[in-house]
Parts: sequence; structure tokens; C-alpha cells
Amino acid sequence: MEFIIAESTEDMSRQAADRIASYVDADPSCVLGLATGTTPIGLYACLVEDCAAGKISFADVTTFNLDEYRGLDPEHDQSYRYFMKKHLFDHVDIDQARTHVPEGANPDADAVCAAYEEAIEAAGGIDLQLLGLGPNGHIGFNEPEDTFPATTHCVDLTESTIQANSRLFDSIDDVPRQAYTMGIGTIMAARSVLVVVEGSHKAEIVKKAFFGPVTPQVPASILQFHPNATVIVDPAAGELCRDLA
Ligand code: GLP
Repeated sequence: MEFIIAESTEDMSRQAADRIASYVDADPSCVLGLATGTTPIGLYACLVEDCAAGKISFADVTTFNLDEYRGLDPEHDQSYRYFMKKHLFDHVDIDQARTHVPEGANPDADAVCAAYEEAIEAAGGIDLQLLGLGPNGHIGFNEPEDTFPATTHCVDLTESTIQANSRLFDSIDDVPRQAYTMGIGTIMAARSVLVVVEGSHKAEIVKKAFFGPVTPQVPASILQFHPNATVIVDPAAGELCRDLA
């Protein structure tokens, strides 16, 4: 695992965007796994800028997002489909038919999850998976548990995740209680993984996830075993890891 403490939050975003851009440059029809949350917003802005400047094209890229709230339709302004359109898809030359987000509006969890796994497989698997880190160590919506879930599944969100994500909704009661998420196995099967983390409120969990024991109680810790994982954190998120990195 490569662990990088960037010089600033902007530098974290730029470094991460450059890695994605060079991946796409080397393989224009690659399959990207994408993430939502506040953290990747800056790097998506860099990719939009690069695309507008003609430095990168998403014309042949296929994407799969990590997760989606169960019960939100794509037009809901807190759905992850909406987020992706707002921050990336509507501003680059991607073919939106090639962008995939779990079908949150479909309540049939088994059908949604099986179809998502099949679509990933049919696309040849994920080449580069982008990840953020939840305050409790979750990746996608894989919450702390007794085991690592293998495939795309429906999860009950923990109180701490509902609390953390409530800042984006009108009230905590509006936060969906469930989500569809790629499993840890789906994520680990990606050929490369790129994690971005920002903010001092994540410093403790960054240390635990990337320098502590590997345990399903800290889902991101499994990434220590990924053969091609890069973690880029901003100075605040990396402040407890300076002597470890
Ligand atoms: C959500 C998403 C995660 C994301 C996490 C952290 O729960 N499901 O994929 O990584 O939030 O988001 P933020 O970057 O806003 O802290």
C-alpha cells in the first residue's frame, strides 16, 4: 500500500485526479469505480477542468459507482446518481449509458444487487476503484461488522453514518436507513484502488484503517492487503501518521 500525505487538500485532489487521468490516458476504455461524499468533489472538479482543456477524454470509459441509498430515485438531490451528474457526468464527454449506479429506486434488493454484480463482470471487472473513507472506517456503505461482505448487497446504515450524512439532508429523518453497496469482495477485486481522505475528523480512523490491525470492524483496513492500493490524504487527515508513513 502506498500512503501519501499531500501538501494541502487541493494537492490531494490534484494528485488523485492526475492518477485517474493517467489511467484513462493509458487505457481510454477502462472501467472506473467511482465514489461520492464531500472528499472526491475537488478531484472531480480537476477532472472536469482537464476534460475541458482537452487533456483527458471519458468518451470510452465505463463507470460503476460504489453505492446508492435504497429508496431514493435518481432525481432526488441526495441520490448518488444526482451527485455524479452534478459533479462529473454532466460536465465531461462521458456516455451516460455507460455510467452505472445501483438502482436505488428499485426496492427489490436481491434483483438490484445481482444485476449490479453481473454488470461489473460483463464489463470485465473494475480497473481503478476510487474510495472515500467513512468516519467509522466504512468504504462504500460497508459498515463495521463481524465479517467482510463479499458482493453487492443491501445494508442497514449505522446510527453514526446516518448522523454523519444527515448534514446533507433537510432533517435526520429524511436520511434513508438502507443502501445498496458494492461488497468488500467487489472492491478488493478491482485491479487498483485509490483512496482519498480529508479533514482532522478523519485523522484517528486513517491511522486505524491503514496502520492498525485488519478487521471487519474497520472495513477499510482490508485495503492493506490489496496488491495495488494508494491512499492520498490531506495534511489534517494524515496528522497522526507522519511517523508511520
Ligand atoms: C458516504 C459514502 C462513502 C463516503 C463517505 C465519506 O457514507 N457512502 O462512499 O466515502 O460517505 O464521505 P465524506 O467524504 O463526505 O466524508
